[in-house]
Amino acid sequence: MNIGIIGAGNIGATLARKLARAGHAVRIANSRGPETLRGLAEQIGAQAVSARDAAQGAHVVILSIPLGKLPLLREFTTTWPNDVVVADTSNYYPIRDGNIAAMDDGQVESLWVSEQIGHPVVKAWNNILAVSLADKGLDRGAEGRIALPVAGDDTGAKARVMSLVEDTGFDAIDGGPLAESWRQQAITRAYCSDLTADELRAALRTADRARAPQLREDMVKAYLALGDKITTEDIVRLHREASARASIETH
Ligand SMILES: NC(=O)c1ccc[n+]([C@@H]2O[C@H](COP(=O)([O-])OP(=O)(O)OC[C@H]3O[C@@H](n4cnc5c(N)ncnc54)[C@H](OP(=O)(O)O)[C@@H]3O)[C@@H](O)[C@H]2O)c1
Repeated sequence: MNIGIIGAGNIGATLARKLARAGHAVRIANSRGPETLRGLAEQIGAQAVSARDAAQGAHVVILSIPLGKLPLLREFTTTWPNDVVVADTSNYYPIRDGNIAAMDDGQVESLWVSEQIGHPVVKAWNNILAVSLADKGLDRGAEGRIALPVAGDDTGAKARVMSLVEDTGFDAIDGGPLAESWRQQAITRAYCSDLTADELRAALRTADRARAPQLREDMVKAYLALGDKITTEDIVRLHREASARASIETH
């Protein structure tokens, strides 16, 4: 497939590397322009482009920038053809994105994103830490393969993104329509816990919407308390512990 990626940070660059390795033609963009990305693009076998040009000829565009910056893309996203599938990797963190009233009032994050950019989105890769995304992918059928949920309203668009999730080394699980994608937001049981397919299905089924925002704030405090020493394994452990506590309290 032809894939455009807007965002060349922890997640965007990792996806670019993996999808190029899987044989896709990848164009990648950041906020500062293609000349700042040429080294990375060459190294991973992608083409550096401007964000405005990322969707040119693309079957799928992946948005992987901080959620609070996504409305800035609207100046060109509203002109994208309907058949361009847009995947959204974003999560709402008020500490980074500022408080956004719609989501503080409970709007599902990717519905807000879709409204902001004026194009439907499929939510994917939002619930895996960048280091797990880079290092923990496995071949199809491998025991213990981590599973990731993919939520969206258009069956064909969702299937396309699910096939890319598989190409990045993870089982793709149908997360339902976008309105249900709160089940994979921060911080639910499905979030950054590196679960297998059966574990993920159970986590999505038993997600606790009401507690998620408070758990997200608690988790940010826990990250900050661990400071620079924090590792991916610490974060996965903190998430699993929070889920276990939440399920004990609700039973
Ligand atoms: N980090 C994780 O473990 C993780 C896991 C799952 C999901 N996510 C989510 O995925 C998204 C990306 O996270 P990240 O950690 O990869 O972020 P990051 O490392 O901070 O990288 C952000 C990227 O977005 C680009 N960018 C920012 N504003 C832009 C704009 N207006 N136009 C084009 N590009 C722009 C930046 O380009 P410049 O450097 O040129 O400004 C940079 O390449 C976030 O929503 C995050 O919540 C992150």
